[in-house]
Amino acid sequence: LSEIRAPSSRGAGSLSSSTLERLKGFVCPSEPQGRGPPGPGNAGGGSEDADGGLEDAGVSVTSAPCGISKSGYTPLEQQYLQIKEQHKDALLAVECGYKYRFFGEDAEKAAKQLNIFCHLDHNFMTCSIPTHRLFVHVRRLVSQGYKVGVVKQTETSAIKASGANKNTLFTRQLSALYTKSTLVGEDVNPVHSLVDVEEGECDDVVTDPPESYLLCLSETWDKPRKQLTIGLVAVQPSTGDVLLDCFVDGSTRCELEGRVLKVNPVEILVPSDLSDSSHRLLQSIVTASVQAGDGVRIEKRESAQFDFASAMNTVTEFYCHTQDSGSRPLSGIASLESPVVCCLGPLIHYLTEFNLQRVLLSFRHLSCESDGMVLSAPTLRNLEILTNQTDGGTKGSLLWVLDHTHTSFGRRLMRKWVSQPLKDAQSICERQGAVCEILESDSVTLPSVRALLFRLPDLERGVCSIYHKKCSTQEFYLISSSLSRLGVELQALLPSIQSQLSSSLLRGLLLDTPELLAPAHNFLKVLNEKAAKSGDKRELFCDLSGFPVLQERRVEIQSVLTEIQDHRREVRYTLRTPTLDYVRVSGQEFLIEVKNSMVSVVPSDWVKISSTKAVSRYQSPYLIGRCRSLSQLREQLLIDSQKEWTNFLHQFGEYYHTMKKAVGNLATVDCLFSLAEVAKQRNYYRQIVIRDGRHPVIDLLMGEHTQYVPNNTELQGDGRRTLIITGPNMGGKSSYIRQVALVSIMAQVGSYVPATEARLGILDGIYTRMGASDSIYKGRSTFMEELTEASEIVTRATERSLVILDELGRGTSTHDGIAIAYATLEYFIRDVKSLTLFVTHYPPLCELEKVYPLHVGNFHMAFLLNEPDIGSKLSPGQSVQPEFITFLYQLTEGAAGQSYGLNVARLAEIPEAVLHIAARKAQELKNIVDARRYTYKDTHCPKQWETLSAEQSND
Ligand SMILES: Nc1ncnc2c1ncn2[C@@H]1O[C@H](COP(=O)(O)OP(=O)(O)OP(=O)(O)O)[C@@H](O)[C@H]1O
Ligand SMILES: [Mg+2]
Repeated sequence: LSEIRAPSSRGAGSLSSSTLERLKGFVCPSEPQGRGPPGPGNAGGGSEDADGGLEDAGVSVTSAPCGISKSGYTPLEQQYLQIKEQHKDALLAVECGYKYRFFGEDAEKAAKQLNIFCHLDHNFMTCSIPTHRLFVHVRRLVSQGYKVGVVKQTETSAIKASGANKNTLFTRQLSALYTKSTLVGEDVNPVHSLVDVEEGECDDVVTDPPESYLLCLSETWDKPRKQLTIGLVAVQPSTGDVLLDCFVDGSTRCELEGRVLKVNPVEILVPSDLSDSSHRLLQSIVTASVQAGDGVRIEKRESAQFDFASAMNTVTEFYCHTQDSGSRPLSGIASLESPVVCCLGPLIHYLTEFNLQRVLLSFRHLSCESDGMVLSAPTLRNLEILTNQTDGGTKGSLLWVLDHTHTSFGRRLMRKWVSQPLKDAQSICERQGAVCEILESDSVTLPSVRALLFRLPDLERGVCSIYHKKCSTQEFYLISSSLSRLGVELQALLPSIQSQLSSSLLRGLLLDTPELLAPAHNFLKVLNEKAAKSGDKRELFCDLSGFPVLQERRVEIQSVLTEIQDHRREVRYTLRTPTLDYVRVSGQEFLIEVKNSMVSVVPSDWVKISSTKAVSRYQSPYLIGRCRSLSQLREQLLIDSQKEWTNFLHQFGEYYHTMKKAVGNLATVDCLFSLAEVAKQRNYYRQIVIRDGRHPVIDLLMGEHTQYVPNNTELQGDGRRTLIITGPNMGGKSSYIRQVALVSIMAQVGSYVPATEARLGILDGIYTRMGASDSIYKGRSTFMEELTEASEIVTRATERSLVILDELGRGTSTHDGIAIAYATLEYFIRDVKSLTLFVTHYPPLCELEKVYPLHVGNFHMAFLLNEPDIGSKLSPGQSVQPEFITFLYQLTEGAAGQSYGLNVARLAEIPEAVLHIAARKAQELKNIVDARRYTYKDTHCPKQWETLSAEQSND
């Protein structure tokens, strides 16, 4: 049966026979039409002949000469225009035989992006790519932000040739659309090709980002209350994750920004009448993402779709009429907030265009802010939780420190853990308990479990692509065999897990999983491994008892083959060569080869198919007829097999939720192992009292030769809850306060922390204001940005929050700056009552310790001063040297009077001349202030900033 097997689309290095055949048809259009039998039927069909024939041989719908209709377009062009009319915003790749073609503007854009040749053909510019490279090019276009439509032939050549419409154009339909978040399916994720990618064979393939969320936003204005509510739904069509959220946001869209940063979408769906502020925010995110190398795609949809009534209609329709096991009952929908419904409606419409709407059927996982610790957008950015601020990459971020996962799904979960630390003490303790057991247990069970997680394919995406019924046979085989193997191996470990593990979290995760995975085996055993791996759908099932249609088709094919073999006897008789057998040339089967010297014996009604100098090849009319039937039957078998395959995938989809749960369990286990790895490698301890705390990232980056100086921290909600930290520039102030925040986050993720001891209360949020940056794009200057952020913190922080303010008020004149910093800090101490770390270079603020002695403490970063010898009176021309400072990086009680900025100026290699003048100026100013202080004292003036600062600096 070797000739029945479909040619592999990749054919290691060589072209498959069918491709050769089609190529032949293409380069030799002058070969007499209709002389030979229909080409070998196979998937996709050799349509180039037919279409080419239509265009070139003058067969056209309107019978105008040269295949050009009255409108001036060729039939193929007309067909393209019709499809394009319905999908104006997509670049269409149109299947034409063995290649995909682009037309018109699409062709020009594609040619530019793909770096391929584009030329004028009839009415349109056109360019083309070979079929087997479709995924490479679609991915590349999609990564550039395009929506790409793949238009496929929906007829196959042999069956078409036997029908009434044999002289018309091949019918074509849009088979799939792709954008950044919707790259699901075998066209764009052919597993066998991605293996090549890993082996470095295709280095031009754009690989999947780890996450590809599609985010949809709706805005609802409450006019009387002047309040904006934002609804948000984020879907990851490739993994089936759905997040819903609804929140009130201010004009800065700070809340929205935080969520967008966390979700990190690749595509955003918004109403066409989105508010200016939101639009500006999204635009800034797009700009930043383009800089980081991967632009976010924004799709504007008709605003009417976002209206509550219309969205509700879509939503109820969708959930009423779609049957799916495990889908969300309608009552669940009724409880959704209306802004969320306003997003869900347009999302259903959108995903339906991609045929990916099924993921929306079943969202169980609702993430609400109240579930976890709040990390505001500035906190995520400033503390470099998920990405660094240098190049937007992961290196140097907290995620980078904590992520030692081995699976793609584990990595995705770890990102969620880090961006959304827990708030519930029990869950935190469970995670820590699990990590502790992994670290301390010496049983062999846990290492065996861990070994199972190595080298796994992306099961989460795989299971979901099966659920969408879009996966290839190769992917299915890979995924189901991995699932089944995991099930079996975990099952074998069950007894030791039962007897040896004590962490309730680990036990729960591991004991459940084998049973959840069990169904995978039943699907795997029906498959013919070889066919599945080569993508041959006709031979896919090894046991046909469950597939009567396929069985029947096989019998029919076998009987035609027998007829053809029987016919051989007649041929032998006719040609008087008793040993004659059919030959196969260039993919064409059942040819009768006759030496040219013998052609006189050949009956006149035989059709000559091809010839060489020595031989001619014929087919008898009977043979032509049988071969035609055979091709038709084979095409039919492929169509039937495709149907059964889809059915098969559908059946697997019934277990989608079970499999997803199992994969989720494995992801959690992977994350726990990862945290244990961190604890082991970095000497972390378990347990806001922090003894010998270190900054996790700097500590890791410092390497062997330098040591991070650990510091202690003690903050008490009802006692000393505010630390005012002063000290020299470069003294380690910012590093210290970041360290406190990071340690708290790590603890609430469930991780061990870089400290010898830590007793931490549970924080409901961390708010930070640090660094100078402006947001020109948001229409805010540096100082405006500073105060907007501060104001957000004032409104959001609670008694249970940690607030970190680094040099608030430095963006304006000294007087205003000090005034604002003083007032704000006092407000935090007295009214918000949050745990607060305040870094400042304004000594007057240290006064607050005297005002609130119970709640405020002054600290500074210790240093050694090597003061130059300068008299208080300067004689003109006298040279002044700035002080030399040695940093000790040790948090010490008491305020520091000076910032020794000139020392840093020297470290930064400011020219000597400038340094001297600056040092001189500093000395002069100091003298003036000193002099004024005496005057104020003499006249009993009330305390002024100048006096305060003079006093401080003299301390
Ligand atoms: N505890 C520490 N141990 C070792 N090195 C440290 C420590 N803390 C900070 N450093 C080093 O000092 C550098 C400067 O620290 P940091 O930015 O915290 O100073 P700063 O006091 O905030 O200065 P400025 O006032 O100029 O903002 C860091 O980049 C780090 O390399
Ligand atoms: Mg600093």
